[in-house]
Amino acid sequence: MLKLFDVAIIGAGPGGYVAAIRSAQLGLNTVCIDEWENTKGKASLGGTCLNVGCIPSKALLESSENFYRSVHKFPAHGIKVEGVSIDVSVMISRKDKIVTTFTGGIAALFKKNKVTSIHGKAKLLKHGKQEETWKIEIDNKKELETVYAKHVIVATGSTPRQLLSTPIDNVRILDNSGALDLTERPERLGVIGAGVIGLEMGSVWRRLGSEVTILEAMPEFLMAADEQIAKEARKIFSKEPGLSIQTGIEIKEIKTNKNNVIVTFTDNSGKSQKLEVDKLIVAVGRVPNTAGLGLTDLDLKVDERGYIVVDDFCCTDLPNLYAVGDVVRGPMLAHKASEEGVAVAEMIAAIEKGNTRKPEKVNFNTIPRVIYTSPEIAWVGKTEQELKSANISYKVGQFPFIANGRARALGDTVGFVKVLADATSDRILGVHMIGPYVSELISEAVVAMEFSASSEDIARIIHAHPSLSEVLHEAALGVDKRALHI
Ligand code: FAD
Ligand code: NAI
Repeated sequence: MLKLFDVAIIGAGPGGYVAAIRSAQLGLNTVCIDEWENTKGKASLGGTCLNVGCIPSKALLESSENFYRSVHKFPAHGIKVEGVSIDVSVMISRKDKIVTTFTGGIAALFKKNKVTSIHGKAKLLKHGKQEETWKIEIDNKKELETVYAKHVIVATGSTPRQLLSTPIDNVRILDNSGALDLTERPERLGVIGAGVIGLEMGSVWRRLGSEVTILEAMPEFLMAADEQIAKEARKIFSKEPGLSIQTGIEIKEIKTNKNNVIVTFTDNSGKSQKLEVDKLIVAVGRVPNTAGLGLTDLDLKVDERGYIVVDDFCCTDLPNLYAVGDVVRGPMLAHKASEEGVAVAEMIAAIEKGNTRKPEKVNFNTIPRVIYTSPEIAWVGKTEQELKSANISYKVGQFPFIANGRARALGDTVGFVKVLADATSDRILGVHMIGPYVSELISEAVVAMEFSASSEDIARIIHAHPSLSEVLHEAALGVDKRALHI
């Protein structure tokens, strides 16, 4: 029997599974095809984010932060804890349990929303003659299954970028999957790439007592962040015992022997150096994943970096074919992927109802970015350097956590919040934070920017006392030079 769907989604990461749920909610007959298998060879929905990305990394960050607190922060509260140790295997099983609960949760959500879920690798075949349908062949390693769909959303995500011909064996040289599954604490950990994964995974093991060395090719640290925040982060991290970050390096060679990994690189003055570590994490970015999808036969446009080319609405140049998430331009973030998934599902539902008006674009300017280090880093909107290079005049309001009662009570007083507002209209252009729980605080700034708020708007909103949100309040007051507690 011909299996014909309104929408087929390839990939069940945060782009694909959210698109599938939203499509089904809107009454579209939906199938979601995903090939992910966990280490036990079982189908596991949720893509990179749930299986080897956002969720497991945050689980390990929480465990390691608790360990670090109990050793280094509890004494200040008068809490005496002796003989603290970490059982890495328990920490990893806790993380695995969280992952399994969540991936199983997606399967339950599919069932609830009547999304057909098929496990296997999907290949898109040439635009069929049958009433403008797409044909999709699915290989589950045992048999080939074929489904047809009127609309197809490609949400195949990304894979780690390879460095030189470095053999990732996930024993000594690890990518993000291997880094999440270490069975014991390495004494010496090397990380190539001081990006988001490098900093987060480096933090996990440093907090547990590893000597961590991070090697970064770019001349400056965290170049995507606001310069002042990046400088503050580097200053704070450089005081961390057991953490060394070197920028401006060039990797020359990576060699393994029975017990360790030796990285040869030139430092920022061009001098040759060697780093010997027990484990090495390579986290030098990710590349779009289109392998085996059959795109070349379809003549689908990909750009020079391998991203599927889409317009502002995630439409490709082929009819009824869309792409969302890490496989297309824009930041590689789960919430960006999901937002695009929802937008495309709603556009398809509208088309099916005869409404061809394009939906609202996903607003890239209000996508929050968070790095879950300690202290956390978060931002939304423009950085100071972006505003300067665009010749936009702006005002700055800034407030430190050290002057905030809740931060004092927490014992987490490093960092600050900075609000950038247009010099003439006072509209908020960017908000940058480094400090405790800024991953949560940034949402207020996102809401404000989505509603085109001014700094005056935040300044006039009542914030609970004592709370960390008062730091954003005071920073907004500071734009007009009327912060109260400094
Ligand atoms: P993916 O999640 O990669 O999912 C793609 C799915 O498609 C996969 O299941 C894959 O198996 C499947 N697939 C691919 N090809 C085929 C095919 N031909 N047939 C069938 N199935 C196919 N982002 C955040 O926002 N916050 C974080 O804290 C965060 N932490 C991260 C930590 C790590 C260690 C990593 C690696 C990433 C992290 N990210 C984070 C990024 C986030 O995981 C990605 O941006 C997000 O998963 C992208 O979603 P996606 O749906 O586009 O693709
Ligand atoms: P990244 O792009 O964040 O960082 C990669 C880093 O490696 C860069 O600083 C780059 O300059 C450096 N690099 C590249 N080549 C190098 C080389 N040859 N030698 C030394 N350094 C080199 O990529 P990362 O950390 O791999 O993460 C991939 C994606 O996953 C990110 O783009 C991010 O969007 C997402 N992610 C998001 C998280 C979050 O939102 N909290 C957490 C983890 C990942």
